Amino acid sequence: MPLVTSTEMFKKAYEGGYAIGAFNVNNMEIVQGITEAAGELNAPLILQVSAGARKYANHTYLMKLVEAALIENPNIPVCLHLDHGADFEICKSCIDGGFTSVMIDGSSKSFEDNIALSRKVVEYAHDHGVVVEGELGTLAGVEDEVKVKAEDSSYTRPEEVEEFVSRTGVDSLAIAIGTSHGAYKFKPGTKPQLRFDILEEVAKRLPGFPIVLHGASSVSQEYVKIIQEHGGGLKDAIGIPEDMLRQAAKMAVCKINIDSDLRLALTAGVRQVLFEDPSKFDPREYLKVGRQYVKDVVAHKIKDVLGCEGKASEILG
Ligand code: G3H
Ligand code: 13P
Ligand code: ZN
Repeated sequence: MPLVTSTEMFKKAYEGGYAIGAFNVNNMEIVQGITEAAGELNAPLILQVSAGARKYANHTYLMKLVEAALIENPNIPVCLHLDHGADFEICKSCIDGGFTSVMIDGSSKSFEDNIALSRKVVEYAHDHGVVVEGELGTLAGVEDEVKVKAEDSSYTRPEEVEEFVSRTGVDSLAIAIGTSHGAYKFKPGTKPQLRFDILEEVAKRLPGFPIVLHGASSVSQEYVKIIQEHGGGLKDAIGIPEDMLRQAAKMAVCKINIDSDLRLALTAGVRQVLFEDPSKFDPREYLKVGRQYVKDVVAHKIKDVLGCEGKASEILG
């Protein structure tokens, strides 16, 4: 089946108290690992592409990899989303190039500038049948070349969300409640905390409206350990506890973004093979293990964190 927007996915996820996994893709093995897991578990899926992924793999290659995955997994609805679109031009390019969803990330701009930019993207996107995610509040961490220090991050202000959504027309909203991008989300020795009170207040002000959680990798210590035991670093890598993600999914959060967990899984597989036998040099041998770990991680998320196993059919109708 062709790519779909996230509209029906979010409607069902909101009503059903679960979330859709939005997984970042950068190459064939990652696309395969994610889609094989979702296909086997009949889970709706969002594949997302960052500007860095497009720079690395090229728009056409990524589109064709996703198209191949649709052919291989005809039983699940798949939405293709631009992650962290920084300006109108990249959003337009993805809309024109076949994406069904884009994010316009104006979160580092003033409230008025964020509204003006998001509104412009929404007008173009909606004219082309594409949905838009906006963002209010700033997450700490690293996205491609953009680095936001923890002290420069800021929580979403619930009193701004209604005006933002009504003036922009965005279809979903990413908010900052204490998650951050990358593998170092909390200081060692501190208790991981998310501002569920902000999420609750946002949900009260925007009843039924889908909320997005970025920076939601759990940084599984299982893969961190494999990496460390096979020549890697990652001291003090800490993620979001899974029970907090489950709680968010039961509330208004309909989309949970995961990238770092896939990077860790792929790296763990590659490191393991090459460290255990330094004579190996066939990429298929080490990428195969990395791909399997990506698949394992995604299957675990679908079953035990997002709660979207078997939900493909309720979206396909
Ligand atoms: O939110 C950021 C994602 O992890 C994408 O990262 O910009 O390095 O591709 P990237
Ligand atoms: P993680 O770094 O926690 O995987 O976050 C990914 C993300 O938010 C992509 O937009
Ligand atoms: Zn993000």
